[in-house]
Amino acid sequence: MDAASQATIQALCDKNDLGVHSQFVSDDIMHLYSQGVITNRLKGFNEGKIVASAAIGSRNLYEFLDNNPAVDFHPSDYVNDPFIISRHHRMVSMNVARTMDLTGQVEVEASAVDFVRGAKRSPGGKSILMLFSTSDDGRSSNIVPILSNTNVAVPRADVHYVATEYGTFNLFGKSLQERVVGMISIAHPNFREALFADAKTLGLIGPERTLGEAVHGIYPVKLEETMVVEGEEVTIRPAKPVDERRIQEHFYNLDKDDIFSRFMHEKTSFPRSEVEARSQIDYVKDLTLLAVVGEFGFGRVVAVGECMLITKTNMAEVAFSVNKNFQGKGIARRMIRKLAEAARENGVFGLIAYTTPGNQAMIRLFKTLPFKVKSAFDGEGVSLTCRFDELD
Ligand SMILES: CC(C)(COP(=O)(O)OP(=O)(O)OC[C@H]1O[C@@H](n2cnc3c(N)ncnc32)[C@H](O)[C@@H]1OP(=O)(O)O)[C@@H](O)C(=O)NCCC(=O)NCCS
Repeated sequence: MDAASQATIQALCDKNDLGVHSQFVSDDIMHLYSQGVITNRLKGFNEGKIVASAAIGSRNLYEFLDNNPAVDFHPSDYVNDPFIISRHHRMVSMNVARTMDLTGQVEVEASAVDFVRGAKRSPGGKSILMLFSTSDDGRSSNIVPILSNTNVAVPRADVHYVATEYGTFNLFGKSLQERVVGMISIAHPNFREALFADAKTLGLIGPERTLGEAVHGIYPVKLEETMVVEGEEVTIRPAKPVDERRIQEHFYNLDKDDIFSRFMHEKTSFPRSEVEARSQIDYVKDLTLLAVVGEFGFGRVVAVGECMLITKTNMAEVAFSVNKNFQGKGIARRMIRKLAEAARENGVFGLIAYTTPGNQAMIRLFKTLPFKVKSAFDGEGVSLTCRFDELD
């Protein structure tokens, strides 16, 4: 079993009522069926049936398939027909792509195209392309600057989600520059610098853009977490280079008092050159966490938690801003805890924050950490510090 399908099966284990319409049935599908994850109850089409055109797997699989009324085999001109695929309810197609370019064009085997198109037309459907970031020997990148027309199987407008070992990105509805930055951020770190230079040479992105620390960053997926705030799902996750505009919007949406509390001075503009430092990060020296609501790829940032290493003292400075409508709901508390855990794992000694003496919310937030907190007033602001080896 290859790594992509193994990872997919693992990720699907805790789902319910999945349905299958696939070229192949495999042992993995049989296992998910026997665990009750696949029921085919809600497919909206061919309900109650696994539909496929072939099977590849163990002897157990063939016994499972033998005379099984829950499995229907059809020739591939039926299974792969985009019109048939699109009749399913919330069809999600998953295919492995060979290569992709920075603009989102895809080279993939022909049958995958039918699934991508079918899923796109299904009500609530989406397509996911999985891509190994490099060739098998690791010598070349599977994300390339630009694919020639002859190789393109899926045009860029049809592509939604792309996942590599380095992260996921939703290309749908994104501008050219956003696609380029997004694709580079999920490329193998060894190739990012060259891709970035090529993108500039090709005129895909402006000459003023920089990659900053994101050149080396490996997105720490384990820091992702979803919490429910008053019935709404809020995802806390590390920031990615493609989040730049969303972070900018978050700052512009803060009210005046909160801007003052966060930056300790008045501020009316948040240019990209400044915001960049929060999204183009290496996740070790600099880590930004975002709280995001809404659909993946279109989400709105409702909170930003930043953590920056101060090399001289090996302490990390933290700063937060939470949108007014989301304050007092435990979002920053969760974020500071995660930032502290990540900093500690990276060998940082402790955290430090600067605020005004009147900022009770920030002071209380810092004190929610399970460490001893020292505060010092310098006549203007208060510094709060804690060390990870001093438990409260
Ligand atoms: C400070 C701030 C980040 C807190 O975020 P939040 O998500 O609202 O905080 P949480 O809901 O996680 O609450 C954290 C703690 O602060 C307390 N708190 C929250 N808002 C408070 C308020 N207005 N007054 C007093 N305490 C408050 C909470 O009760 C909680 O403490 P507890 O667990 O002991 O009860 C948020 O108010 C904010 O963005 N303020 C504007 C920007 C700012 O001041 N940044 C800090 C300087 S870097």
